[in-house]
Amino acid sequence: MRTQSAPWRAAAVLASVLLVGGVAACGNSDTGGGGTKDDGKITMGFSQVGAESGWRTANTISIKEAATAAGIELKFDDAQQKQENQIKAIRNYIQQKVDVIAFSPVVESGWDTVLKEAKDAGIPVILTDRSVDSADKSLYKTFLGSDFVKEGRLAGEWLVEQKKTASGPVNIVELQGSTGAAPANDRKKGFAEAIAANPNLKVIASQTGDFTRAGGKQVMEQFLKANPKIDVLFAHNDDMGLGALEAITAAGKVPGKDITIITIDAVKDGMQALADGKFNFIAECSPLLGPQLMDLAKKVKAGQEVPTRIETEETTFTSEQAKEALPNRKY
Ligand code: AHR
Repeated sequence: MRTQSAPWRAAAVLASVLLVGGVAACGNSDTGGGGTKDDGKITMGFSQVGAESGWRTANTISIKEAATAAGIELKFDDAQQKQENQIKAIRNYIQQKVDVIAFSPVVESGWDTVLKEAKDAGIPVILTDRSVDSADKSLYKTFLGSDFVKEGRLAGEWLVEQKKTASGPVNIVELQGSTGAAPANDRKKGFAEAIAANPNLKVIASQTGDFTRAGGKQVMEQFLKANPKIDVLFAHNDDMGLGALEAITAAGKVPGKDITIITIDAVKDGMQALADGKFNFIAECSPLLGPQLMDLAKKVKAGQEVPTRIETEETTFTSEQAKEALPNRKY
């Protein structure tokens, strides 16, 4: 067996010192996974908004399945649509020294303190589905999710096209998502910007239905009582639109005919309503974020650079397109 000469032995010792030093430096860096252990496994703490809609259920399933497929240990918390529950869950994950924290913020504002705590603990944060309005972008690694302003704009542009020959006022009622949530703020903005192209299009009432069927039904009942002429309903998600269908039918009106209905999401029940002619148009918002999220977690833990914004690819559906897409719709 060949033995190493003295200079080779010295070089080998130097190389292993540099390697160990390099690994230690990586472990201390706040760009890599922040947990203290480095056993090659990744633990993710995930705080979900709640279970308010079909979209949310599909999103939760996507995240859980993707974590299992990626071999990532997932700690999951349902915040029941309360910001204080999310802050509590994130603090627990920091204490538990998870490798990555991911969450879908219930509302846009008020995250700086807890995000700073995660950063100080060296735990990277990934935002998924919804973003925050923090000015300090170093508080999170990336934001994976939809462009909600674009979704609202696509809904508005479709309506502008449909009503381009309208000679009189077109009365629109709007069911907003949860107050302060990014998709509620942004979809409202995008829709308003688009319909400004036609002064005949007027939002005569706009109120939150909290992204739920029950909320959509209840608020639509009020809209119908207070407004004798409603031409269009713009609902910020399918579930509120589906709840509103019940109120519209109970009021003796035909959804999709007497009242044009535009929603966002494209979950199966919404797509069925669209295929049946009860809805007229849906702008898609994809909940299938799990696989991309797990991929990002692995990269972030490995200290790799990731883009600061990753936008989900989405489309829109008319009734005919919904009929075609429904048989293969996964959620
Ligand atoms: O943040 C995504 C939105 O939240 C979906 O459009 C809605 O259905 C959900 O509750």
